[in-house]
Amino acid sequence: MHLVKFLPKNLAKLLLVIVVVCWCFLGCRGIKWLALAKMSSISAKQLPEMCQELIGLAKRQQKICRRNVEVMDSVRFGAHMAIDECQHQFRNRRWNCSTVDPVKVFGNFLKLGTREVAFVHAISSAGVAHAVTRACSKGDLQHCGCDRTVNGRSAEGFEWSGCSDNIAFGIAFSQKFVDARERLRKSKNIKRVLMNLHNNEAGRKAVEDSMQVVCKCHGVSGSCELKTCWRSMATFRQIGAILKESFDGATEVKLEHKKKRPALVPVNNQFKPPTRSDIVYLVASPDFCEPDPKTGSLGTSGRVCNKTSKAIDGCDLLCCGRGYETRTMTIVERCQCKFYWCCYVSCEKCTRTVDEHVCK
Ligand SMILES: *[C@@H]1O[C@H](CO)[C@@H](O)[C@H](O)[C@H]1NC(C)=O
Ligand SMILES: *[C@@H]1O[C@H](CO)[C@@H](O)[C@H](O)[C@H]1NC(C)=O
Repeated sequence: MHLVKFLPKNLAKLLLVIVVVCWCFLGCRGIKWLALAKMSSISAKQLPEMCQELIGLAKRQQKICRRNVEVMDSVRFGAHMAIDECQHQFRNRRWNCSTVDPVKVFGNFLKLGTREVAFVHAISSAGVAHAVTRACSKGDLQHCGCDRTVNGRSAEGFEWSGCSDNIAFGIAFSQKFVDARERLRKSKNIKRVLMNLHNNEAGRKAVEDSMQVVCKCHGVSGSCELKTCWRSMATFRQIGAILKESFDGATEVKLEHKKKRPALVPVNNQFKPPTRSDIVYLVASPDFCEPDPKTGSLGTSGRVCNKTSKAIDGCDLLCCGRGYETRTMTIVERCQCKFYWCCYVSCEKCTRTVDEHVCK
């Protein structure tokens, strides 16, 4: 903004127009690079040329890949963790984060500007940041390692030990790689670009904000005479739960030009502008009740539901009022095990029946 002040007024206007026009050609619908999750592994010994052959990478991402071949296996692992965690967090919901098409990963679904899509962006960007950071701490990468700037004795009297997670590198790499798609794809959909970038950032913020101090006691017979501590990322399960909470409280936004700069503002003007850790979305979600290739919905027919729950996993809501069928299943278990001296265990076989309810 300072720069603009020094430019003649018309030139500044012209620049603004150019910037806005450029923005309008950017955009993205889809995070095709998530397809990397389907690969078994990417060896660091592979040549930079392999970057062209990786499925789902945009031109810009191929370039980042060529310069950072050794990091790519962490990107793959991050994508894999992200999909896995998404499926865990949404296992009881109508949309359960299933991949519609294993090659396209999420198929048409990502074209929507819904909060589910927002979540997928956030968790993917978090996945890359988390996986790259872990690789740094494990010493797998040449260009990063532990964060050794936290050291010495703390005010509480413990000793910082050497290896704290160095999230700066992981976060920066995730930003460079994941956001690259948003900056180059040709699209007039500036809203979507801003939405995706915002949610990518929210994912990384969750990794950053959930850093915690972990300590270990040393000393005779469990006494805590000497305590060493280091800073560590939360588990990815915890980060998934944080982002799921942000999903539940996500803000619906719309595009507005504030001082001629495009920005996302809450649709409900009683709400505060979204913070960096909030998840934002542009359109309401479909109900995901019936299969619909347009929205990537698989429908809920055949899903197992909980007869007694009033929440979304309950048969009423999950089956969208279509009703459910009950199957009785017989489970055979080992039971009444006895230990015989010496040395074997003998069990009996018990059967019990359980009812399973499945949406029509
Ligand atoms: C998600 O739901 C679909 C049916 O709607 C089912 O086929 C699939 O197995 C489910 N996926 C997971 C991960 O539970
Ligand atoms: C079903 O829902 C009830 C009530 O929410 C809960 O207590 C129970 O553990 C659930 N059962 C299963 C199998 O998830």
